[in-house]
Amino acid sequence: MSNGRESGTPEQSAEPSGRLPPTGFVEQANAADASIYETFESTWPDCWEQAADRLTWNDAYDTVLSGDGPPFEWFAGGTLNASVNCLDRHVEGDGKNRVAIKWESRTGETRVYTYQDLSREVNEFAAGLRELGVEADDVVTLYMPNIPELPIAMLACARLGAPHNVVFAGLSADALATRLESAASNYLVTCDGYYRRGNPILLKRKADDARLTVDHDVRETVVVDRLDGDTHLGANQHDYHELVERHAGTVVDPVERAANDCLFLIHTSGTTGEPKKVKHTTGGYLAHVTWTTETVLDLGPADTYLSTANIGWISGHSYVVYGPLAVGSTVVMYEGAPDYPEKDRIWNLIESNAVDVFYTAPTVIRSFMKWGAEYPDAHDLSSLRLLGTVGEPINPRAWKWYYEHIGNEDCPIVDTWWQTETGGMMVTTLPGIDEMKPGSAGRPIPGTDAQVVDGTGAACAPDDPGYLVIRRPWPGMPLALQRGRRWADDHAAPVDIDGWFYFTGDGAKVDDDGYITVLGRVDDVINVSGHRLGTMEVESAIVDVDHVVEAAVVSIDDPREDGIYAYVTLEAGVTGDEAIRNHIVDRVRERIGPIAIPEEIIFTPDLPKTRSGKIMRRFLENITNGEQFGDTSTLRNPEVVGELESIVRDRTGTSEDSE
Ligand code: PRX
Repeated sequence: MSNGRESGTPEQSAEPSGRLPPTGFVEQANAADASIYETFESTWPDCWEQAADRLTWNDAYDTVLSGDGPPFEWFAGGTLNASVNCLDRHVEGDGKNRVAIKWESRTGETRVYTYQDLSREVNEFAAGLRELGVEADDVVTLYMPNIPELPIAMLACARLGAPHNVVFAGLSADALATRLESAASNYLVTCDGYYRRGNPILLKRKADDARLTVDHDVRETVVVDRLDGDTHLGANQHDYHELVERHAGTVVDPVERAANDCLFLIHTSGTTGEPKKVKHTTGGYLAHVTWTTETVLDLGPADTYLSTANIGWISGHSYVVYGPLAVGSTVVMYEGAPDYPEKDRIWNLIESNAVDVFYTAPTVIRSFMKWGAEYPDAHDLSSLRLLGTVGEPINPRAWKWYYEHIGNEDCPIVDTWWQTETGGMMVTTLPGIDEMKPGSAGRPIPGTDAQVVDGTGAACAPDDPGYLVIRRPWPGMPLALQRGRRWADDHAAPVDIDGWFYFTGDGAKVDDDGYITVLGRVDDVINVSGHRLGTMEVESAIVDVDHVVEAAVVSIDDPREDGIYAYVTLEAGVTGDEAIRNHIVDRVRERIGPIAIPEEIIFTPDLPKTRSGKIMRRFLENITNGEQFGDTSTLRNPEVVGELESIVRDRTGTSEDSE
């Protein structure tokens, strides 16, 4: 059946099977010796000393990995401070006047921080936070857009041993309140507002709303003045710049943290309606991201690096802030969107800063493709040496476009698979060693045991789809996993294996060469425009609207289109009209944020259900994506599938003969 959407398979088979990394790249690569895989395998877990040795420790660790686990502990006995690793050691070495962060505002204003400048402001802000009462282990919530004060605040928290809890600025006041509560956080740093595509977003107003609904007392709030407006500061609210000025020149002794002490916590979407709290460690996490930054992103102190990731998500934590600053590179940051004010903003940034390494997401690459090759083609991108992607599978057509138009067929592409939970990269090619296969992420990184298995844990035959699991601990693993919690147990995992394992929630297949192709989530988590959302969290926002009885959301599975379809059942006698649609949109915006607003809202008298009453989302996915659906005979109400299919076809204008 043709509905104008391509399935991945024919597109994939049209591509050559592999490409070798360009010789010029290999000659200078940080990792170019293929024996690294074998060495890591034969010396595991001690191989991870290579990662830990890239860090500056106060006390050396006694053991690399202790415990046959769980519990596990990485680098036990070792102590360190993350801000020292990202700042002091460069300042004390030869990097004090090297640029750490070069930031461009949406209006083209730039701010340049050398490692010395960054270190100074981090210390001053750390002193300010300490004045407000922040001590080691207090959680500080940071609700800010991509402005330099965000990484500064993260590093200031790290200096004090106070875990940060960054909340993406695009999330709503309700979402902020839930995350403040879940983290039991008494301190908040935010800004008055920021511009998105020329429109002001009043962030402090959202932060104030959130504070009012939080059960516990948010004792102190710091506000960065970004809009240059007259922001009213209430009781226990402090101006960031005044606070920093008050501590001008102060140096704060870095708080020594045990390797396993929490560096930060971050919330992500899980399979329940509640956000999932993930805590990362200071030693293991920092070792993992530093080593992968050097080995996979090939970054070092001489490099300039640009990522489109927002610092509010894990990709920004690991590969905008901690990894690149730990290796001493120059990070180019920008405020706003890649197409504002012009669609060549990124290419302009790469050209004017002579960026060496660029990291982005397939959804962004597809937007670049839509805008047209004339934008990158008009810029000199010859400084680029390596390209990366993260966040979702990259379809081979987007890969090829990226390779040709951005990399000029001269830059390897690393397709890096990892998650909020893994902390750092887990499956990718090593760019100076491995052949690239468009559409396939690559092999597990050295020392990592990622496997594709069936429901019993048996390895799948090449090209058979299965579940992606990790069967050995890794340094960037979060605290809960180290302590033996099996997330897989919380919500009916489809895999059951003897012994320790981590179920990633992803489906995948592996080829003859051991390359893993990630097929997407198999649990109730969906990936929309690079954002991870739980179906339950969106559905519970929708059923909160008056007259809504039931809702099911599914994602559009199409490389050229992103979004969610919501199927909604209303009380008998109520008609689904624009007013209810608007209420649904408003409620989703209010509870989660604009990223979760459905593309289509489809009212239906019933949802496809099994005889026991379970909603069969699989059929809704087939309908949404114009795919053939299988046997409906197990449904209590098979007729609803055909009815919904024709409603969707009418609404979206897709039909079998539309192509
Ligand atoms: O489904 C996988 C997809 O993104 C999920 C993790 O999302 P999040 O925790 O928000 O972290 C995103 C940034 C690290 C995974 O379970 N994913 C991530 N990278 C890839 C990917 N899918 C395919 N290929 C990738 N390279």
